[in-house]
Amino acid sequence: MAKILLTGGAGYIGSHTYAALTEAGYAVEILDNFANARDDVPDRLEMITGAPVKVHRVDVLDRAALDAVFASTTFDGVVHFAAKKAVGESQKIPLDYIETNCTGLVNLMKAMEKAGVFRLVFSSSATVYAPTLDWPIPEEAALGYASTYALTKLMGEQIIQAAAHADARWRFGILRYFNPAGAHPSALIGEDPSDIPNNLMPYIAKVATGELPELNVFGNDYPTPDGTGVRDYIHVVDLAEGHVQSLNALMKGEGSHIVNLGTGQGYSVLDMLKAYERACGKPLPYRVAPRREGDLACYYGDPAKAEALLGFRAKRDLDDMCATSWAWVSRASNMRG
Ligand code: UD1
Repeated sequence: MAKILLTGGAGYIGSHTYAALTEAGYAVEILDNFANARDDVPDRLEMITGAPVKVHRVDVLDRAALDAVFASTTFDGVVHFAAKKAVGESQKIPLDYIETNCTGLVNLMKAMEKAGVFRLVFSSSATVYAPTLDWPIPEEAALGYASTYALTKLMGEQIIQAAAHADARWRFGILRYFNPAGAHPSALIGEDPSDIPNNLMPYIAKVATGELPELNVFGNDYPTPDGTGVRDYIHVVDLAEGHVQSLNALMKGEGSHIVNLGTGQGYSVLDMLKAYERACGKPLPYRVAPRREGDLACYYGDPAKAEALLGFRAKRDLDDMCATSWAWVSRASNMRG
């Protein structure tokens, strides 16, 4: 049974990836500093998988601790999520973002190199594409960044490619996600922002639970069918399965790859709101607010390359994203107070 180290495995996408990797037959150990994760996620993963969950409570900035983790077990590969991810915050504390996301990655890769582990799946983001009016966005599109968060993801991709250029033993999967949404069908894990969310789906979820009074729709005069912003929402379980397929390719000795993980399908803010209303069975209040600075009218990916290289195709639809999100947030015991 191949052994995988999953950094950031207690977080939103990381925990769903733990479940998917385990289901696919991998033996997985989590490395997380729990800075933005609930302490009970490992217990919940035990309930989902029916097996003990091994956790290393380690920060990726602690190089000695990383070395100790790699000395404790022989890993066959690493899936790397551990990073900071709030766009707005990255503009306020850029050096912290660069330190955790870039230095953390370098630390991890040096520890991997020392231990002779050269398979790496990296959590990147569609935010690495330069603003474009050409949709859907293929992997060959021009790259750029509009936030320090985006810069750290772009640098991460380049750090990995530089290492692989110098040492042919490296095999990597760089996965550029579009907008993750939804939760695990067990309703035991999901997205749990500790603060007022910036992203649409967790914000709508908090309007549905009554924690927030109404959704602010950021602009309804975009050149889209209903005037509101269009994005490529992908079910977090589909996203998690994309990591399994990326890792499978590396385990089979196939080449490194850089692929979008999206659906190729765009939905508007109002589409999402209506789908969530169907899921929770009640109308959700909203008001139209000014456009958010830096937002694009439309942003969705071309998923063809992930399908051709990895056999990846998102299976779950908008209603599944909203129904599983609602099942997760409407269980009071699931939420941090
Ligand atoms: C945002 C980030 C992006 C990051 C991604 C991570 C910005 C400008 N972009 O992308 O860099 O990679 O999150 O998931 O922060 N919306 C509302 N009301 C809200 C929240 C959002 O109307 O309260 C609208 C937005 O204008 C947008 C859509 O919903 O049209 C999706 O927004 P969001 O979830 O923040 O994702 P992105 O803008 O795609």
